[in-house]
Amino acid sequence: MGQILTFKLNGADTEVLINGDETLLDVLRGRLSITSLKCGCNHGDCGACTIHLNGRAAKACTVLAATATGARVNTLESLFLGGDLHPLQKAFIDFNAPQCGYCTPGMLMAASAFLSSAENPSEPEIREALGGNLCRCTGYNQYIEAIMAVAEGNYGPLPKRGA
Ligand code: FES
Ligand code: FES
Repeated sequence: MGQILTFKLNGADTEVLINGDETLLDVLRGRLSITSLKCGCNHGDCGACTIHLNGRAAKACTVLAATATGARVNTLESLFLGGDLHPLQKAFIDFNAPQCGYCTPGMLMAASAFLSSAENPSEPEIREALGGNLCRCTGYNQYIEAIMAVAEGNYGPLPKRGA
């Protein structure tokens, strides 16, 4: 039976009709047409569907949509509200991190959530934070190097958005 989910999506009050068995991935992609988050495994293993849920990285395929009532949900779109690319997006481009790009939105969401709460993270800490995000093209080093560059301040201060 359908129910109304009320939550904040990328800063905007949002209402959508959902079924009780739908995940946030189902709702964001299928009902709200936000296709930046990807469905890689649908089982919480790949990280392609990573979003921010109340400021923390979460895999949307593992979150029952009904439990997000009143939550703050941010997708990749929240990183460049206002037109400018997020420093992580600039670094990913500079380091040629994306290959096919399928994992990139999830990498950006996981990395931005991590950096918003980490002080001077080490490379092992970054690798651990990104451990739940798989890249089938196996370009992990470029992603890690790009995130390190952002963490070291080479791309300026991180904007207070998207987390
Ligand atoms: S699609 Fe959600 S973790 Fe793979
Ligand atoms: S760039 Fe292809 S899956 Fe990561």
